[in-house]
Amino acid sequence: MKNPLPKQSTSYWHDSVDLPRFDKLKETIKVDVGIVGTGMTGITAAYLLSKQGLKVCLIDAGLILNGTTGHTTAKITAQHGMIYDEFISHFGEENTKLYYEANIQAKNFIENIINENKINCHYTTEDAYLYTESENYITKLENEYKAYEKLNIKGELIDTVDLPFPIKKALKMSEQAHFHPLEYLKALLQACKENGVKIYEETRALNVEHNKHSTIITEDDHRIFCRYVIQASHYPFYDGTGFYPARMYADRSYIIACKTNKTVNNGMYINAETPTRSIRPIEINNEDLLLIGGDAHKTGQSNDPMISHYEALQQFAEKNFGLQEIVYRWSAQDLVTLDKIPYVGPVTKAQSNVFVATGFRKWGMTNSTNAALLIADLITEQDNPFKELFSPGRDIKADPSIRKIISYNTDVAKHLIKGKMERPEEDIETLEPNEACVTIVKGERAGVYKDADGRLHAVDTTCTHMGCEVQWNNAENTWDCPCHGSRYTYTGDILNGPAVKPLKKLVL
Ligand code: FES
Repeated sequence: MKNPLPKQSTSYWHDSVDLPRFDKLKETIKVDVGIVGTGMTGITAAYLLSKQGLKVCLIDAGLILNGTTGHTTAKITAQHGMIYDEFISHFGEENTKLYYEANIQAKNFIENIINENKINCHYTTEDAYLYTESENYITKLENEYKAYEKLNIKGELIDTVDLPFPIKKALKMSEQAHFHPLEYLKALLQACKENGVKIYEETRALNVEHNKHSTIITEDDHRIFCRYVIQASHYPFYDGTGFYPARMYADRSYIIACKTNKTVNNGMYINAETPTRSIRPIEINNEDLLLIGGDAHKTGQSNDPMISHYEALQQFAEKNFGLQEIVYRWSAQDLVTLDKIPYVGPVTKAQSNVFVATGFRKWGMTNSTNAALLIADLITEQDNPFKELFSPGRDIKADPSIRKIISYNTDVAKHLIKGKMERPEEDIETLEPNEACVTIVKGERAGVYKDADGRLHAVDTTCTHMGCEVQWNNAENTWDCPCHGSRYTYTGDILNGPAVKPLKKLVL
């Protein structure tokens, strides 16, 4: 291949910022608010609440900012694909307007924080464009534009944009933005430290118990006594019988950062059709590059090897921009709720002091900031106009998600049964370095990976969440679960929940 993919998946955001390190929690502590998860939601909530004088702690199962926030395209926009026409027909004009306003408020909040604190994070105001190359999508874009008009969204339907390939139509949303998310959050983290927030890494939360206090129980059996718990851990580690696995699915998507012959000087772009192609300019080492993302699929479910999704982006860059070099590649995991609106609020109606913030689809920069603002208001008993719209306990009968619950859970059941019925017949002997197979070891279904030095690593492929069989992901060298999206390293350690226990290691 002329312009090969980098061997390793590495996020540019991580590679370009030195983040501080924090110790593990090694004792019992007492705070007002215990926040689990150090992505954009957790850090923003910690910043807001500590600024108001509350005692806050922030813990992460791994290292800070190592989840979806560190693997985004970092577009700060309320243009979340083609959704406004659909939302109006499902939820009505008033609720749809609230969704837009919540996301614009989040964008403005980020901009204000950057200005007030003079944060150097490459914040750039740009128009966002939803474009199509297909005749079949012109009417859909026109309908979306009508939705913009009804909602008073500043936009324009146009025939040409600053892309070096022909399009049929595009819909502009004016004055959106992009930035370097970790430069922004590093500054917010510093402000948190100055406000007295206690921060711990490699501290996995396993459960919440309710006695005199709400107590977060960690993997090392330490206790965090708190008045409020915020689950900002992407997937809620504590379900509280809110049935989250039945109401969300996990989706993966891919990003390449590349040098190209033709570039994009203005705007940021996403197509209306599938497979998705998301495009934005980015400056890396004083050079103008492009971030190209997309090719999403449900986690652990892909007809082709996972690496083929990066290759699809590579071919798109080659064809449309004249690819010179791919300097980074990385992937992201997102959670999608049944009605596409995030769940933000009490985990169940009966547990008003334990919050979730999840299901941001691919639009985590504004949705996570909105989630932090909303939960901070709920804790400090301020009015917030968005609390019913995002409430995890909203009435699902009022929208189309009831049908999706049935089809999604049929899909999960299908994968559960299929995994149990399959008799893996692959042979360890034929494995090349960096390859994996599923086979039978001492009567147990085993996933075996041969590393670059020829060492074999075997795990039981039964997902520790609810028992589905994990699938090999050859793009990231991970075991991914097709049921609810748990992901594990090749040695079985957890990368993404809902699982809270590693895969069982097997001895060959
Ligand atoms: Fe639920 Fe694997 S993530 S069974």
